[in-house]
Amino acid sequence: MLDRGFLFGDGVYEVIPVYGGRPFRLDEHLQRLENSLAEVRIPNPHQRDGWSKILSELIHKNEGGDQSLYLQVTRGVAPRDHHFPELTNPTLFMMSNPLTGTPTSILQHGIAAVTETDSRWSRCNIKSINLLANVLHRQHALDRGAKESILIRQGEVTEGAASNVFVVLEGTILTPPKSHYLLPGVTRDLVLELAQQQGLHPQESAISEQQLAAAEEIWVTSSTKEVVPVTQLNHAPVGEGIPGLVTLQIHRHLQTFKQQFRAESPSPAH
Ligand code: PDD
Repeated sequence: MLDRGFLFGDGVYEVIPVYGGRPFRLDEHLQRLENSLAEVRIPNPHQRDGWSKILSELIHKNEGGDQSLYLQVTRGVAPRDHHFPELTNPTLFMMSNPLTGTPTSILQHGIAAVTETDSRWSRCNIKSINLLANVLHRQHALDRGAKESILIRQGEVTEGAASNVFVVLEGTILTPPKSHYLLPGVTRDLVLELAQQQGLHPQESAISEQQLAAAEEIWVTSSTKEVVPVTQLNHAPVGEGIPGLVTLQIHRHLQTFKQQFRAESPSPAH
């Protein structure tokens, strides 16, 4: 009970999707984990190949296929005091959860989102397990009949409570640039890469609250939910109020990319 993760939220985490028994974008997730650990000065308990081995073990214990891996590293167990303890080993906890992809009904209808003033700290680039503000933002969305909260800081979109945000504005795909105010999403980067490859010229650029309200299309991304169309914002329709063509196109490209990744996967029997 004296683990600093439990007492202070003093730790960082990752969520890594697994397709066909293989972790997806593993280097990108491990790089972000290294960055988060370095930012909060928790020693990294494993090198990359060590992480790779224990994650494979977890995947195989859960019978391969598609899964969502959760891992968290905390500063460890010590008598409760705020400063860093001496001689404490980090605690590692990992689990696997089912991963189902975006349900068809969500792709058909999209979700409702609401905007809220971003109440979080100014180091949101760290994937901290201290998620109380995100929890409250997500719950506020549910309280208002929506599924996600889109956060606004000083008049500009940062991200969702547990997702990154994209819009299509006057035909151009925009997502906010990386900063200390948002998590550098692995899915975000992949979507930018895929959109670029398709000649769609996405831009990393600030999105004002007014631009968000005027967007033709909005979608949010995350490792577990992939690409989710937002078809209502603050109870008003986004565009036609149905998932937009660009959103669906991006969703399809991501599915194709995943299929290619699966096809490269060694079968679970080998
Ligand atoms: N969260 N921003 C926030 C605040 C997030 O919590 C997440 C994902 C993302 C998307 O990042 P990625 O594409 O790397 O998953 C952006 C995970 C899934 C979670 O907390 O469950």
